[in-house]
Amino acid sequence: MLSEKTKQAILELQKKYPEKRSALLPALHLAQSEVGYLPRAVQAEVAALFAIDPNEVNAVVTFYDMFYEEPVGKHVIHVCKNVSCMLRGADGVLKTLCQRLQIQPGQTTADGQFTVIASECLAACDKAPMLLVDDKVVGPVKEEMIGSILEEAKKGAGHPSPVDAVEGSHA
Ligand code: FES
Repeated sequence: MLSEKTKQAILELQKKYPEKRSALLPALHLAQSEVGYLPRAVQAEVAALFAIDPNEVNAVVTFYDMFYEEPVGKHVIHVCKNVSCMLRGADGVLKTLCQRLQIQPGQTTADGQFTVIASECLAACDKAPMLLVDDKVVGPVKEEMIGSILEEAKKGAGHPSPVDAVEGSHA
């Protein structure tokens, strides 16, 4: 459930746009920042704040890789598997990462530390093959770098990454 503080922040966000539903993406970031993911109940709360059908919110949540309907690990690693990254070795990077963590893409490690998600283009093709580690672009990645990338990620605050950058954050 969303706190009153987050609900208020979402209502404030809506005032910044001519059409309040334009604030839906940052609002979902705020909601996910608080809850850690976006279960249907939270989607419904957001929908109510926008006075729209929860299915519309669900369509947005399921379209974007950065929104999670299920709980994720403390650290979320997106592995781009689109053309530029694939041509430069993304398959090997994904395989090595998953072997190292003993999970499959889409899964979370037993200790809850890492979730790995195979994603479409993450808009950093010049860094191919690349990862998004807790919302930070890392690349070009070589398979032998995976160990140090995981160690570095562990030092960070993890997911959800600070959404303070989102306009109207409740920070
Ligand atoms: S193809 Fe990987 S970031 Fe664009």
